[in-house]
This record gives sequence, C-alpha cells and structure tokens, in this order.
Amino acid sequence: MSGATIWLVGAMGAGKSAVGARLAERLGLAFADADLEVERTAGARIPEIFAREGEAGFRARERRAIEALAGSAVVVALGGGAIAQPGAPERLAASGTVVWLRARPETLAARIGDAAGRPLLAGLDAHGRRARLRALLAERSPCYATATIAVDTDGLAPGAVAARIAALLQGRPEGAERMEGAATARTVRVELGARSYEIHLGFETLDQAGPAIAACTKARRAAIVTVPEVGRRYAPRLERSLREAGLRVRRLLVSDGERAKSFTWAQRLYGALLDFEADRGTVVVALGGGVVGDLAGFVAATWMRGVPFVQVPTTLLAMADASVGGKVAVDLPRGKNLVGAFHQPRVVWMDLATLRSLPLRQRAAGLAEMIKHGAIRDAALFERFERDVEGVLALEPAPTLDLLARSCAIKAEIVSQDEREAGLRMLLNFGHTLAHAVETLSGYRRILHGEAVALGMAFAARRSESLGHAPAGTADRLEALLERAGLPTRPPAFPRRAYLSALRVDKKRTDAHVRFVVLRGIGRADTVPLTPAEILPRDFGARAVGRGRAGSEQGPARRRRR
Ligand SMILES: NC(=O)c1ccc[n+]([C@@H]2O[C@H](COP(=O)([O-])OP(=O)(O)OC[C@H]3O[C@@H](n4cnc5c(N)ncnc54)[C@H](O)[C@@H]3O)[C@@H](O)[C@H]2O)c1
Ligand SMILES: [Zn+2]
Repeated sequence: MSGATIWLVGAMGAGKSAVGARLAERLGLAFADADLEVERTAGARIPEIFAREGEAGFRARERRAIEALAGSAVVVALGGGAIAQPGAPERLAASGTVVWLRARPETLAARIGDAAGRPLLAGLDAHGRRARLRALLAERSPCYATATIAVDTDGLAPGAVAARIAALLQGRPEGAERMEGAATARTVRVELGARSYEIHLGFETLDQAGPAIAACTKARRAAIVTVPEVGRRYAPRLERSLREAGLRVRRLLVSDGERAKSFTWAQRLYGALLDFEADRGTVVVALGGGVVGDLAGFVAATWMRGVPFVQVPTTLLAMADASVGGKVAVDLPRGKNLVGAFHQPRVVWMDLATLRSLPLRQRAAGLAEMIKHGAIRDAALFERFERDVEGVLALEPAPTLDLLARSCAIKAEIVSQDEREAGLRMLLNFGHTLAHAVETLSGYRRILHGEAVALGMAFAARRSESLGHAPAGTADRLEALLERAGLPTRPPAFPRRAYLSALRVDKKRTDAHVRFVVLRGIGRADTVPLTPAEILPRDFGARAVGRGRAGSEQGPARRRRR
C-alpha cells in the first residue's frame, strides 16, 4: 500500500461504482469512476468509443485515465477489464491499495440485467450473458486476486460492503469484535530437547520482537535478511525494537524470488556478515517468505559453523510450513533444495498483520499447506476449515490465529517426533509427489508451490480411494475445500510419460519405489511404496487434459457463502 489511491476492481456488476461512492464518503475522500472519466475526456459514451476505436482504443484511454488518478487520495471504481491489461496489477499496486469486490456469476447477471451500455455483453441473451460472465471471471480472477483486500458482495447492500472495506483498510477487520476477551496471541512450543523453541503468533507484534529475540539468543548484533519490498514495509519496526533491546542492527537485502536461494546470494551474505563483523554473538534474522527463511537459515547454519537464527515469516506459506522445523537450503541450477542443513531457529516470531499486504493468491497457496496438516493429522482442524476457510483467507483475526496456531502445532508435533525425516515427517509430503512433478514440468513458472500441492493432494486423495485406502467421499471433501480456497485441483495437461519421468527419483531404475502418502480418511495418513507407474493410473495424462484446466490458469474460485 505504497500510495494513497484506493482502486476497486471486480467484474462488471460487482457494484464498484455504488460501493465506491459510499466508501469515499465514509473515508472523506473524493470518488472517481474510471469509465465516466474516459467518457468525459472522450466526449462520447463507451459503446460509441468501442464502435469507433475498438477495444484497443478504449483501453488506451482507460490507461490514461488511470495514470491521471494514480497516487492521489481518491477512491476509484475501475472497469472490469482494467486490471487484466498487461502490467496493470503492478501499476495499481504501486500507487495504492487494490480492493476486489467479489460476486458469484448469478449475482452479477442479476445486477447487470439487460446489459445496456456493456459492449462485451452486447447482442447476447440472458443465457449467453451468464456464460460470457463466467468466462470473463475465469480469465480475470487471477488478476483480481492480486488485490490485497477482497470482500464478498453477494447479498450485501453497497453500504454494507463499503463498511466492511473501511474496516479492513483501517486494520480492524471483521471479527475484531469477536477478538475482545479472547486471547489475541498464541504460543506453540516445538519440543526438541535443548534445542526446543517457541512459535509466537499475534497481530501487530513486530514492535515486541526485539526483547524476545534478545532473550533467547543473548546476541549483541542482529543481521536482518530480507527482500526490498518486505524490508521497506516491515523492517523499520523490527529494527527499532531490536535496537531498543540493545542490539546493533544491520539490514541485508537480497533480491526477490526463488533465484535468491543460491550460492551466489549466500556468498554475498557471507561478505556482508564479514563487513558487519558478525561473530558467534550475532543472530541472523529472516524477515520474509520461505525463500528468505531458507537462504538466511542456510547462511546462519554455515557462518562460523553455525550462529543463532530467528525466523520472522511474512507469508502464510512461511508461517504455516517453511519457518517451522529447521530445514534450510539453497538450490542448485539442477534442482531445488539440494544443499542444506537442519538448523532450528531460536524463536519464530509471526506477526499475522504482515499478511494483510500479501496478495490473495499467495495467501491461498499458504492455506494449502495448512489444509494439508488437517488432512493428514487432525480431522477437527479440517472441519474448522470447512466452517471458516473464507475467514482465514480474509485474515479475520480470530479464525486466522486459531487455525494457524493449530496448524503450526501439528507441524511442531511431527517435527518433535521425527526431526530428520526418518518416518513420521514423511507424512508432510502428502500431495508433494505429484506437486514436485508439476513444478518440474512447468519449470517452476506460473504455478506457486502451494497451488501445486493443492492439486497434488486432490490427486493423492482420489488415488487413496481408488487403491482402497480411503473411504469414498474423502477426495470430494478435500477438493471442495480446496476449491473454496481458490486453489486448483486438476493437474496441468502434460503427457503421462512426462509425468512418469518427472516422478522417477532413480532415473536408471524405472521400477524404483516412491513412498507415496495416502489418506486413510480425513485426518489420517500413511505411506505406501509404489512405483511411478502404479501411482499414475493408465489414463492419467488423458484425464488431466480432458477434465480441467491447468492449475495456475484456474482463478480463485468464488467463495461459498457462509
Ligand atoms: N524449509 C522448509 O521446510 C520449507 C517448506 C516449504 C517451503 N519452503 C521454501 O519456501 C519457498 C517458498 O516460500 P514463499 O511461498 O513464502 O515464497 P517467497 O518467499 O518467494 O514469497 C512470495 C512472495 O511474497 C512476497 N512477500 C513476502 N511477504 C510479503 C508480505 N507480507 N506482503 C507482500 N508480499 C510479501 C515475497 O517477497 C515474494 O515475492 C520455496 O523456496 C520453498 O522451497 C521451505
Ligand atoms: Zn510444501
């Protein structure tokens, strides 16, 4: 939220103009409707502009209108396709906060009526309009999902939607009332004898991290490893708190993205640590997602044969999974996580408020690993998700804190019993066999790890049923939940033989077994040794093609109404 503008995005009929006007009034800001701005400057109505200049002409005008508004303190209702233009998500995010007004196609169709003045729906009957809306939603949802705030509008009046957005913008999301009296922080302990540590979960707790880190590391210096954008947002508060606790602090920036998990970046960090005169009394603090955690942890594990390490995760994936358990690593050009260590943190400090700037798509990816913890180990957690997955996606404090704490407790319990993955910890690989194959085949592009895990879990659950390990209906439940979280459940269409070769760990022996994690039911998992050919049913490739779109192309599903 680096600028002042509040951009309302969503499909036509989502209520952007009506909500925008009310939101502006609530916040005491001006209101602008991008479509009206275009009409005003062009001196023509939108259907006329389309007829005269085509969609390209309209988009160019729309882009100029957006540029003129960007950065000023104004609530802007954008046309349904504005954010789907190349580069638009980044430009909008850079100049303000993007808010997605979500609605089901039926709601949209009902609100739009006969579609007068909507060129993209011109000439269609009611049935055709619904089909076109569905297609537009599927195509644009990934762009809408780059928003940092999403609000469901089904069945809500514009005023109520505006009130909800205002609350979220002011950092008191719904559910805040419910928090009163209830605990607003949680601790989960990871039992590992002398290396035991605590996971601290709370909202707006970055300012309190310093004393906690000082106490459990006794360090005199702190090297904070982070990426530019996360550092800009969150490092100042963490640094201040560490300084107040008496530590000398330095911020070490690495570039964003998986590519930073490399020897090149590790070596740059060693150099920076030398400059900082970092000795054994220095704590390395990872502030960011799983990439920063894995890289900083690897550096902490190896610098002077190991210095204290602290995780301050800022993505849901890092909170739910990567920051707990002590696995740290860098990648090699030929494969991910090939060089690493077990180096447990001294404390994991989770400020859940940092997740508010995390795009929804990334939040959903983190949710996949939390749902996994329920699916393999805790039917009650799974049921909580079935009741409230939308609440966690929207970061409502009470359910988010509860479900994340429970999810961390499951990972902590598994890690305590099997730190080095001799048995139990393998269950955490549920869904990961196919996920890794999908990631390999897609070259790690276009699909997030959590998304690959989601479709891998759906597949593994289906396979558990067909191999007779899980009762019928198990896979349906899991799929329904994943879809509500906006996660893909169908593998992308690569040929079966490509999947087979990606699954073969031992490339020389085609009959080598893989320890495939199956469900015995919701909340119970097991491993069974299977060859890749046994894992993938005969018709697998064809089915992947026939039954669904590739994972990353599937936009976040509509949220089911609670
Ligand atoms: N060590 C483990 O046990 C373990 C487990 C799972 C995954 N991993 C590793 O984690 C990595 C993936 O982690 P990830 O999904 O967090 O990816 P990531 O670290 O790349 O973060 C995703 C994106 O979100 C940005 N970001 C982070 N925090 C943000 C915030 N609060 N607001 C806005 N943007 C924010 C990041 O800069 C990045 O662009 C992979 O390298 C994977 O191998 C490790
Ligand atoms: Zn994973």
